Amino acid sequence: TWTTEAFVEESIREIRAKVGEKRVLLALSGGVDSSTLAFLLHKAIGDRVTCMFIDQGFMRKYEPEQLVKLFAEKFHINVEYINARDRFLEKLDGITDPEEKRRRIGHEFIQVFEEESRRLGPFDYLAQGTLYPDVIESADTNVDPKTGERVAVKIKSHHNVGGLPKDLRFKLVEPLRKLFKDEVRKVGRAIGLPEEIVRRHPFPGPGLAIRIVGEVTAERLNILRDADLIVRQEIKRHDIYHDFWQAFAVLLPVRSVGVMGDRRTYAYPIVLRFISSEDGMTADWSRVPYDLLELISNRIVNEVDGVNRVVYDITSKPPGTIEWE
Ligand code: XMP
Repeated sequence: TWTTEAFVEESIREIRAKVGEKRVLLALSGGVDSSTLAFLLHKAIGDRVTCMFIDQGFMRKYEPEQLVKLFAEKFHINVEYINARDRFLEKLDGITDPEEKRRRIGHEFIQVFEEESRRLGPFDYLAQGTLYPDVIESADTNVDPKTGERVAVKIKSHHNVGGLPKDLRFKLVEPLRKLFKDEVRKVGRAIGLPEEIVRRHPFPGPGLAIRIVGEVTAERLNILRDADLIVRQEIKRHDIYHDFWQAFAVLLPVRSVGVMGDRRTYAYPIVLRFISSEDGMTADWSRVPYDLLELISNRIVNEVDGVNRVVYDITSKPPGTIEWE
């Protein structure tokens, strides 16, 4: 029978046997898969795994700092923080189409990954958080047609893109490839991954960039980060974080009139999107207490400059999607 402990021991043995004294690169996103992978590799080979964390500038407020602190300072895992905020923002200049945004972010991710892996390398292996459903879906994308060996032809990032140049075709280490998502969570927990990461809400790879409808600017990112932080603070304070599949804020690129004190305002609205779901494929909008909505609305309008209105999304999926882009 499958036990988490046996899996962890067996994986560590396999990783050591495979990697030997060589070096391994891992792209860390902060999600449960890549974090569990990082912990497992660190347990198996210590400092010979390098976790590359690329900060695109689209994560939630304080999350990049907290993640690096947690991994590097608390768990002594070898993390390379790459601040790429400016170049990602530049790539989105004037872009409003959702799929074009994703394409550009994914493309830039590969650019940065390539540059940084050359700078930090050489590495022999790439650790990937491939799960069982990924193996099934994309059967042979990473098999070398000549040797039949599994190599990194494409990198599985949270953007699901990425042809790698020929000289960067690492050999793969994929210790999670027989696991389903719930098993990854168990493994993560068993090897000491903090509960806040194990049970974190799903967060899209392009992050806040697709929660700003239309053009992404530094100003809009700041506004959304602050509004989003208030949402998280309040649902955690009320101890209902785990009642949702996801709960987040969206910024709309329109402005409406409001009044504050004796001043007329003309500012952005924030949409609250609170969802319950089993798997993200279908979803229902959450029936949140009015008092909580009022509290969040008041805090956002009073504390976040540039917002003068908060609305609640009551659309289920289908026909709506969870994200607005
Ligand atoms: P939708 O909006 O399609 O979202 O109902 C379903 C789930 O997928 C997440 N999502 C993404 N995740 N990259 C990701 O890694 C993306 O581009 C992306 N778009 C949506 C979304 O947060 C939800 O959990």
